[in-house]
Amino acid sequence: MNNYWQKITKNSYIFGRKGNPLKGTVRISGAKNMVTKIMTASLIAPDGKLTIKNVPLIGEVFMTLDFFDQMGVRYNFLPEKRVLEIETEEFGSSRVEFKGEEGNRISLLLAGPIVSRFGQATIAKPKGCKIGLRKIDFHLEGLEKLGVEIKETEDFLYLKVGKKGLRGAEIQLPFPSVGATENMIITASCAEGETTIKNCAFEPEIIELIKFLQEAGVEIAFSEDRSIHLRGTKKIKLSEVTIIPDRVETMSLAAAGLSTQGDVFLEGAKTDLIIRPLEILEKMGAGIENNEKGIRFFYKKPLKPISLKTEVYPGFPTDFQQPLAIILSQVKGVSSLHETIFENRFEYLRLLNPLLRGEKKFKILNDCPDEEKCRFFGKNYPHLAVISGPMEFGKGEISLPDLRAGFAILNAACLSEGIKISNLGLLFRGYEDPVGKLKALGAEIELVI
Ligand code: EPU
Repeated sequence: MNNYWQKITKNSYIFGRKGNPLKGTVRISGAKNMVTKIMTASLIAPDGKLTIKNVPLIGEVFMTLDFFDQMGVRYNFLPEKRVLEIETEEFGSSRVEFKGEEGNRISLLLAGPIVSRFGQATIAKPKGCKIGLRKIDFHLEGLEKLGVEIKETEDFLYLKVGKKGLRGAEIQLPFPSVGATENMIITASCAEGETTIKNCAFEPEIIELIKFLQEAGVEIAFSEDRSIHLRGTKKIKLSEVTIIPDRVETMSLAAAGLSTQGDVFLEGAKTDLIIRPLEILEKMGAGIENNEKGIRFFYKKPLKPISLKTEVYPGFPTDFQQPLAIILSQVKGVSSLHETIFENRFEYLRLLNPLLRGEKKFKILNDCPDEEKCRFFGKNYPHLAVISGPMEFGKGEISLPDLRAGFAILNAACLSEGIKISNLGLLFRGYEDPVGKLKALGAEIELVI
């Protein structure tokens, strides 16, 4: 079984170096950013059983199960079958905290489910990757509108349902935040009355969350102007849900194939989840073919440089800029990536710089490109990367700075003279057996536990 999350230690490392172009077929796992949201949302059902299929074996799932253990939620996880059954009858505790240093964003999504049952909750403040300020003000303001009273300390949120109970509200998100949209949908689904949420995010995983709740009996309508209208209910009925393929893993493995001039078939990958990234890769000259079984990414001619910005979905996702940066490092010419979602998501390029041979380095700037000012303009955030390829990765060591950068650094290792990678908890929190999958494609990479 590929459950490396529970096996790796502080001393575990990965060593990768350049080999042949990657070739072959691997299967894409279930989406990290859907499975944990479904797990937390299921807890708004006062009773019943949910079966979740295609569950990825990643740390984020085990961390959420750890919250379940703390709360006394009953579940049956069958990792070999990728099936998780959750029984949402009464559970015993309204408090969740992180064990150890590792944390994530999921604790915050338990706010609604726990307060709807206990009238109060004590939850660890979310941690997650250090890629920007990652404030939680939209979540707290929205929860307050839905009737939750909040006190906070440095590490915890103390939540209590106010005198009028959980009730529907009009919520205007200042920015289409993924987490805040999900939090409002989940909490409003068990509040009394109607809620309108404006300026929502509509990532594919959010659409799946909406579909899941609709099937469970919540009336939810969403429209193209980024608004959601829903009516909460106490009668949530759970049945079965299948997790969609992970679009970030898809792009990361596609990048591994393309940057080594290889030819990879990603079984289970779906084009409708990655429309904008496919447009970009096609524009760069990548070979892409798809059928009902998956997507083939192959090198057919030298790729062209590109300049783009990360955007709210359906724009080019911030989680794809890291794999793309590694492809671009191999492309002749000057490319640029303007990160407009998170203030500080280029730390991995800074860490890769000393490992590059020769004069060419990743340039990380606090500017916006000319004519394209984003909300970080003038604030001194390192949010523009200029990549002058082709670059050559030499030898060295890297301690992973964040989860999505983790896979990109594996890809860089597969182009290098030899890179040793540590701090693997972050990588295995989000990817199922990344080393095994790269090896199956012929990469010269080893995980040493
Ligand atoms: N923001 C605020 N206040 C808030 C919430 C968000 O200012 O209360 C800001 C953030 O600081 C950021 C922007 O809004 O500048 C967007 O953040 P968002 O809330 O959309 O991000 P998130 O929900 O924390 C999720 C994914 C990220 C992914 C982003 C953007 C999960 C667990 N995480 O984060 O994925 O990059 O949406 O698509 O779903 C990852 O999987 O490793 C990862 C980082």
